[in-house]
Amino acid sequence: MISPNTKSTSPIQTNINDLNINEEKNKELKYYEKGEIISNPITNYQPFFSVRNISFGFQESVRLKAFLSQKDVISLGAGEPSPEFFPLNEIKLNVKNFEKEIVINGEELHYIQSYSIVPGYYKLVKWLTNLQRETHGLQNENTPGREWNVVLTHGAQGALDCIFKALFDRNDSILTENFTYGGVFGFCAPHGVNFEGIDMDERGIIPKNLEKVLKNWKEFHKGLNFPKALYIIPNAQNPTAAQYDIQRKIEIYNICSKYNLLIIEDDPHIFLQLDGKKDINGRFIGEESFLSMDIDKRVIRIDTFSKFLTSGVRLGFLTTWNLLYRQISAEVGNSIYHTSNLAQIVIWKILESWGIQGFYSYVKRNQQLMIKKRDFMKSMFEKYLNGLVEYNNPKGGLYFWVKLLGVECSNTFVTEYLYPNKLLLCMGVNFSSIRNHKTPYVRFTFSFVPDEEVEKCFVIIKDALLKIKDK
Ligand SMILES: Cc1ncc(COP(=O)(O)O)c(C=O)c1O
Repeated sequence: MISPNTKSTSPIQTNINDLNINEEKNKELKYYEKGEIISNPITNYQPFFSVRNISFGFQESVRLKAFLSQKDVISLGAGEPSPEFFPLNEIKLNVKNFEKEIVINGEELHYIQSYSIVPGYYKLVKWLTNLQRETHGLQNENTPGREWNVVLTHGAQGALDCIFKALFDRNDSILTENFTYGGVFGFCAPHGVNFEGIDMDERGIIPKNLEKVLKNWKEFHKGLNFPKALYIIPNAQNPTAAQYDIQRKIEIYNICSKYNLLIIEDDPHIFLQLDGKKDINGRFIGEESFLSMDIDKRVIRIDTFSKFLTSGVRLGFLTTWNLLYRQISAEVGNSIYHTSNLAQIVIWKILESWGIQGFYSYVKRNQQLMIKKRDFMKSMFEKYLNGLVEYNNPKGGLYFWVKLLGVECSNTFVTEYLYPNKLLLCMGVNFSSIRNHKTPYVRFTFSFVPDEEVEKCFVIIKDALLKIKDK
């Protein structure tokens, strides 16, 4: 149990015996047994949590959740309005690739219109738990010593918010890729958290650079706490589209294990793989995740519906081991109470109507569509920007990461040359771990704009780059 004064006397602990993996064999053992992963299980999670997080009386909400999840509980305690106030009688959904109309009424309609509890609608949470088991080869979520959970969040951004609150205090440090999702920097500044970008290549963070930073931390970062976590985007990294392979992941995992870092695996593109390994139905499945090799229980995984289903619904889901889950989901409860029940039920009805095979077919169709869109944009680079830019060919995700040749600072390029034409590209500085850094990079999104519009944009960009070249 954790209370404000128990930090030193009552550590949150697991021990090596927690690794008594006795049920089905799972992937997290695979690399360990082959000797590729050197295990260093976390024995004390306490130093990872922020002071504010440790001061939560979370125990109460955990007890309450367990109590409320029993059948036939009557609560005179909740601050609920009268159900007679609820305005909706019925909701009808017309879902793509599903012939029947879906009607929401009864228990689910009541759920939409009242409060619920943190993890989310139990049927949706169960569905996602099964999805995670299957995708990451995890053991049953109740396996003794290896318990894990899923909690719904306000998108991946909401998950990051809760993770930051749960883990970081002023002067704490986090390691990131040297170009990374800009949302992370937004958290670091107000939390007073120091971030350090690690050099990358097309396979992601370079392990020897990661090790160098950690080994020399004290010497070069006086006054700053040793990093608690590595934040990493493993598939079609945002923005660089770097793609981690399994060998690179193992090397990084082992370094995190050696230096006892948590790994925050933020993976919005897992269902947007456009290359590599396929399942028997021809759907790209990508490499195993950090979660799936997590013998030490140091990975906090973030997924989101935003990039492969709908972004406006603002739903994501966080998967992690019990102790981490309990502390982080307390942050979800304390900040937003729970995600929108309307969003939860709509997503649940869509997934339920498709079933898991229907969901995988949907993912496969989306991948095929995205391959066409990516290839179309690639043809535009070839047609209009040959010799004016350098770019990679993304194996997943939504983005091309592009170096503008002859441009020192893409900010100036975008504001001076593209804004007047009502055109926007995402400037590299937004992703750079070195703030206010001049960079010639920009990010092009290939998923969203129709082909005819894309072509018009390329004409504008070509003209602008030629003007700079002729200067
Ligand atoms: C790596 C990464 N994390 C988080 C997010 C935020 O996603 P969400 O819409 O689920 O909040 C994004 C969106 O671009 C992203 O690329």
